[in-house]
Amino acid sequence: MSATSFETLWPSLPVPSIIVSDDDKICEVNSSAEGFLNASAKSMRGVPVMDKLAIDAPLEEAFERVRRDDAPMFINNVDVSGGNAAPVQCNIQIAPLSGKPGWVLLLMEPRQIADRLGRSHSVKSSARSAIGMAEMLAHEIKNPLAGITGAAQLLSMGISAEDQELTDLIVEESRRIVALLEQVEQFGNLRPPSRRPINVHDLIDRARKSAQLSYAASMKFVEEFDPSLPPTFVDGDQFMQVFLNLFKNAAEASDKKEGGVIRIRTFYDLSLRLRRKDGSGAALPLQVEIIDDGPGLPPEIAGDIFEPFVSGRENGTGLGLALVSKIISDHEGWISVESNPGKTVFRISLPVAPKEPS
Ligand SMILES: Nc1ncnc2c1ncn2[C@@H]1O[C@H](COP(=O)(O)OP(=O)(O)O)[C@@H](O)[C@H]1O
Ligand SMILES: [Mg+2]
Repeated sequence: MSATSFETLWPSLPVPSIIVSDDDKICEVNSSAEGFLNASAKSMRGVPVMDKLAIDAPLEEAFERVRRDDAPMFINNVDVSGGNAAPVQCNIQIAPLSGKPGWVLLLMEPRQIADRLGRSHSVKSSARSAIGMAEMLAHEIKNPLAGITGAAQLLSMGISAEDQELTDLIVEESRRIVALLEQVEQFGNLRPPSRRPINVHDLIDRARKSAQLSYAASMKFVEEFDPSLPPTFVDGDQFMQVFLNLFKNAAEASDKKEGGVIRIRTFYDLSLRLRRKDGSGAALPLQVEIIDDGPGLPPEIAGDIFEPFVSGRENGTGLGLALVSKIISDHEGWISVESNPGKTVFRISLPVAPKEPS
């Protein structure tokens, strides 16, 4: 390897890496490892590698094997710590250095990064293909269904009242399927948000009024708003969907005949920051909590309620919270839930609208 290519490649390696000489001393440390071990390359060169790294694996033996077999080796899930920092779980690779007998390259990839990248990618893409498929099906089923409904309505004209019950059933059930299909289509069609500064209380009020006219008619709403809250920066129509879905779930969960209570709290809390993919942070200081006094999430699905098609209700589609979570993540917001019998809290954290240029 020529000098220049090593000098460009080495510092850019995104994995903490160390070159160890044939007498187990540190020879080179890349910048990623400097950060990981919280020490400069200069201070580490020439130091025995065992003095710098606390590794919960027989590292000397591993080096010996790599040298003997002249072949790389992998050790997964070991705790690595440098100096006084807390240990971090890593997957380690040790490879012989070509052209330098006895020298080895040690790569330590923190597990959190590996796992997080892997998992979030697979969840997103599997959800996406499931949604794409469902959307296509939804479209294809709607036409024949319209035919079935029409035929049932025609049939119902010339028959006895008793038989009409059956045709009514066909029509009614078909309507339910159409409603479900429309929900699926809406999910697939969601355009990117068109964001503008909006007072979140206006949105909540609009959603509450609409919910009170239908499924939440028997629910009592209690608003605890912080009137000093600055405007947020969202797509108003999409956030109407968010609040409507949360109110609907709260109303449907309520097992009280006279209707339960939905409490809506808003407040300012600067402590939550979301880490973006590029590593920069975004503050999410506007908090909206939607709290109901129903029985709480069914424990068997509590961990999966934001996944599409997960429902704890007989006639549920499992798309409501998946839509909510998609909209919120498209806005780089955050949603979390804490649920106990008698108190379920969905908390949404949102950014503040950027200042108008003056
Ligand atoms: N406020 C709530 N209280 C209790 N359970 C809830 C609440 N919100 C959601 N759930 C549970 O989460 C499931 C998924 O909700 P959702 O994605 O809206 O789908 P759906 O309402 O169609 O079932 C619901 O079926 C219900 O079991
Ligand atoms: Mg729902």
